Amino acid sequence: MAEEIIRVEHLKKYFDVRSNSLLKKEKKIVKAVDDINFTINKGQILGIVGESGCGKSTLGRCILRLMPISGGKIYFKGTDISTLNDKQLKPYREKMQMVFQNPYSSFNPTMTVRQSFFEIGKVFGIGNEETEKRCKELMENVRLPEDLINRHPNELSGGQLQRLAIARALLLKPDFIMADEAVSALDVSVQAQILNLLLDLRESLGLTMMFISHELTVVEHVCDEIVVMYLGTVVEKAPTKELFSNILHPYTQALISAKPKEHPAQETHRIMLEGEAKSAMDMGEGCKFAPRCRFCQKGLCDAKTPKLREIRPGHFVACHRVESEEK
Ligand SMILES: Nc1ncnc2c1ncn2[C@@H]1O[C@H](COP(=O)(O)OP(=O)(O)OP(=O)(O)O)[C@@H](O)[C@H]1O
Ligand SMILES: [Mg+2]
Repeated sequence: MAEEIIRVEHLKKYFDVRSNSLLKKEKKIVKAVDDINFTINKGQILGIVGESGCGKSTLGRCILRLMPISGGKIYFKGTDISTLNDKQLKPYREKMQMVFQNPYSSFNPTMTVRQSFFEIGKVFGIGNEETEKRCKELMENVRLPEDLINRHPNELSGGQLQRLAIARALLLKPDFIMADEAVSALDVSVQAQILNLLLDLRESLGLTMMFISHELTVVEHVCDEIVVMYLGTVVEKAPTKELFSNILHPYTQALISAKPKEHPAQETHRIMLEGEAKSAMDMGEGCKFAPRCRFCQKGLCDAKTPKLREIRPGHFVACHRVESEEK
């Protein structure tokens, strides 16, 4: 049976924001993450994809409990960690690690990478001897010459430093890694190397990951399952192969056809996404994508929020049109 590592149930994160118009001060709510559900099993890589501002990073940070949540539950290996305080979270922090977009800002520039690794070792009570042993193994794992660990971040290339960021994330032997736009700042060729490295590590170490990216082609390359987000909600979710052979949601279709690169799943006509996504400000009832959707049915899509439903085995979609076609 598959071993469950992460499960989120009805997860919500709302932000209170104040809009300061000249006439009145209004308090508004941004629903950055709004009722999200999924499970990540051991050895699985789940992709989260969507435009800027759709809530990907907020979702990631909530799962790692880097911020308080507004509702719902987060389970780590079956334990509810949704409301634990900092002290109670310490043993879990060790087991859930993060790789960020920009490795230069995620390392302390005044320390060598080795010093950074030893500092983490110290905080989490791993002896110097054990840290030394792990550093050696990790440099092999991320396929870098051992001596590079003695350099400062500014003496390393972006690709080298991102490999070291992955090594650092692995230092405490975590059960779960969250990678937020981990290859977005790198050249395309280096991106491919890092993605292949993550796939190799999944094989050799049984890594379980959540991989956040705004690029569908990147998540397609590494993920077993993909969640497509739009303004805080999930609009489509499916195993990667199934998704790319049957893209059902108009938003996912637009995302893929907006790519200049040819893709087998791409329709002949490019669908342009008009305008920018609104902010996830509370918009009331109706499909959040309706104002930009070429299939929007007035009176239905803009009035009734579509539910996420399983349309094909393992393939979930929240769209009135898809639902009516499948009936
Ligand atoms: N601390 C905060 N206070 C108020 N609003 C916030 C805060 N953090 C995020 N938001 C809002 O929540 C929404 C989601 O932001 P988030 O950073 O999660 O998006 P994202 O999908 O990661 O975008 P990107 O691709 O640009 O990284 C946005 O509308 C953002 O403005
Ligand atoms: Mg983000």
